[in-house]
Amino acid sequence: MNVNEIVGLKQQALDEARTAADAAALEAVRIKWLGRSGQLPAIMKGLGALAPDVRREAGRAANELKNELTALLDERKTAFESAGARAATASFDATLPGRWRASGSLHPITQVIERATAIFRTMGFTVASGPDIETVFNNFTALNTPASHPSRSPSDTFYLQDDLILRTQTSPVQIRVMLNQQPPIRIIAPGRCYRRDTTDATHSANFHQIEGLYVDRKVSLADLKGDVSHFAKQMMGPDVKVRFRPHFFPFTEPSVEYDFSCHVCGGQGCRVCKQSGWIEISGAGLVNPRVFEQVGIDPNEWQGYAFGMGVERIAMILFGIGDIRHLYENDVRFLAQLA
Ligand code: PHE
Repeated sequence: MNVNEIVGLKQQALDEARTAADAAALEAVRIKWLGRSGQLPAIMKGLGALAPDVRREAGRAANELKNELTALLDERKTAFESAGARAATASFDATLPGRWRASGSLHPITQVIERATAIFRTMGFTVASGPDIETVFNNFTALNTPASHPSRSPSDTFYLQDDLILRTQTSPVQIRVMLNQQPPIRIIAPGRCYRRDTTDATHSANFHQIEGLYVDRKVSLADLKGDVSHFAKQMMGPDVKVRFRPHFFPFTEPSVEYDFSCHVCGGQGCRVCKQSGWIEISGAGLVNPRVFEQVGIDPNEWQGYAFGMGVERIAMILFGIGDIRHLYENDVRFLAQLA
């Protein structure tokens, strides 16, 4: 092996590197010449047999082979790589806008019911339910509503038959639960209600309530106030105020109505709360002993509170909705803002 031979091999190696068609061919050239059992190590091994003066020259030529070939291989490898990256992105235009798929959202009424349910669950309530089509007995009679009460009139209530109506409130679920379950009882019952109301900004013939019923041996108005206030803070935030006003319902005694301070204006007065700073949320009271008698629960042993909250009312102050009809028009542009 002499210097000329080594220089000739170098040319051959550089030619092969220069003409390699792709990255794989280039790698094959590298292995052939520089690999552990390739040509260069064999040349290096052969140097030992040469006379010292020729060996130095030949060693230099071998080093040149290695350095020039390595440089050329590196250069071409980088070129192949960037060409590959360019090819991979050729079909991808990074300046195009992304593909946007609209995701659905829960209706505000559903959101309020789900949040309220979660809050009451933490307070030990379970969820009960009853049908939209109710008996007159469950909706009125068992709830101590006199036969002459105006709410029974067909001008206020949708009658399907003499004894079947669309329920006007979720309170009949109280009756269903108490007929089937002995106290202690702690339930809420969210659901639809129907009244022959003329629709306006705050009324709808079809709306939602969340009924609550708590029956135990010692229950007072203080329990009602405490639990409702806790719920209000969880639902509306720590700054909400709750106001109780005396009222009348046949099925509670004493009876109250309670209001939440308006979440939209913070109680200052606005369009949503009709400038009053308050929104009426619910009727409530202590279960009338005459209701207990109707369902066979001894009023001398048991006491209870009940409430029936308006879901739309809560949704309106929570989301700042000025007109209840927005909740039923199902305009997705409106609903998407409340997602
Ligand atoms: N059912 C009553 C209504 O619809 C609300 C209420 C529920 C009042 C429970 C007292 C107790 O107005």
